[in-house]
Amino acid sequence: MLQGFVMDNKTDKSGKDSPAFMAFSGDGESIAILKQLAVKHGWPESIIHSGDINTAATFLKSNPSPKVLFVDIASAESVPASLDTLADVCEPGTTVMVSGKVNEYSFYCWLVEVGISNYLLKPFKLDALEAAYAKATEVVTPATKPENMKKDAKIITVIGSRGGVGATTVCVNMAWILANRLQQKTALLDFDPQLGTVALALDLEPGRGLREALEKPDRIDGLFVDRVMVRVNDSLSILSTEEPLEENILANEAAADTLFKQCRPKFSHMIVDVPRTLSPFTRFAITHADHVICVTEYTIAGLRESLRYLEYCRDTLKVKPPIFVANKIGLAGKHQMARDEFEKGLGVKVDFNIPFIVDAHAAATSGEVLAETAKNAPAAKILQSLSEHFAETSADKKTKQNTRLFSLLKRSS
Ligand SMILES: Nc1ncnc2c1ncn2[C@@H]1O[C@H](COP(=O)(O)OP(=O)(O)OP(=O)(O)O)[C@@H](O)[C@H]1O
Ligand SMILES: [Mg+2]
Repeated sequence: MLQGFVMDNKTDKSGKDSPAFMAFSGDGESIAILKQLAVKHGWPESIIHSGDINTAATFLKSNPSPKVLFVDIASAESVPASLDTLADVCEPGTTVMVSGKVNEYSFYCWLVEVGISNYLLKPFKLDALEAAYAKATEVVTPATKPENMKKDAKIITVIGSRGGVGATTVCVNMAWILANRLQQKTALLDFDPQLGTVALALDLEPGRGLREALEKPDRIDGLFVDRVMVRVNDSLSILSTEEPLEENILANEAAADTLFKQCRPKFSHMIVDVPRTLSPFTRFAITHADHVICVTEYTIAGLRESLRYLEYCRDTLKVKPPIFVANKIGLAGKHQMARDEFEKGLGVKVDFNIPFIVDAHAAATSGEVLAETAKNAPAAKILQSLSEHFAETSADKKTKQNTRLFSLLKRSS
């Protein structure tokens, strides 16, 4: 990551002090917020420069680099070249955050992959800037170094914008494809202890694994996980439960935390099916996911709820925005919204579009997955691409990184 070139010293090569923070921004609204940050931290206003990422590169050629650098970008297309130039002139150790108006998930992912500490979508507020600055200055202690965190599996949390849109179908099919076609050791966790349907979809006995985990989070260890998860085959295991509706089940953050910690080293992918009503337990699955998928439908109600989840992730939880997957396309007939109209309303693109499969019911009642029973249907092909997207981003992530920036990373480590 670019923050991989974090400086160890307080002074740069020329012996001059390196400022804690420096910003290059071209719009008044951002500058006003940046000034508020400067006042709060007691920094002089002179650390805020008018300009953008290119101005920053020119300035830093002959001036000490700050510990944290904020830069404006104009467009997604110009960023790779500008970051390259910036990387050439920045002292190793500068943590970079970027701000712009590009509201695209793929762009955000790319920035994170090449090592940008944070991306602030304009217009942003002071608290968002503060949070980004705090993250950029987080001290990486040996205990929190990635290699010590046993952070193995990619966690993909899936939520449905509305009931019945197909969130569980997406979870089950993705887990099945990852495990059986893409040779990824996969765990499928159903985080709804009472109304979850993951086990039903696969025609399996749900077991009591999740219930036990929720009741005794302090007893969850590697052995516990092995014991309570239902093994479908060598590559696929599920964790679910089907508890009576009248029971009051306490599902707290501690259970989710321990479950994730214990499962993560054992799998390469964890797919988490979360109910739409959020609790501390399910919220944890969203905030600690590598990716959140929001399955939706092209209807007004689907748009409204998708927008709420998008804002919730981005503005409240301050995590990556969800990847949107539209399902059952064609089913709503004349009530279906046009895709471009939906994307315009949402403000982001819908990355995957799964058509409605007329004879899906057969798969649903036989415990088989659509990806297999309807393997030649366009819907099954999209489910395959969706699964490959995650298999690739986790396994080949490093090789896909911008090689220029990656070499900087190595240089500084
Ligand atoms: N692309 C599709 N084509 C046809 N039927 C589908 C498709 N996707 C899902 N279904 C069917 O829609 C029904 C609801 O799907 P699913 O249980 O996955 O939805 P959900 O969003 O998880 O629902 P819930 O809100 O209850 O959790 C199931 O019978 C499933 O087989
Ligand atoms: Mg479901």
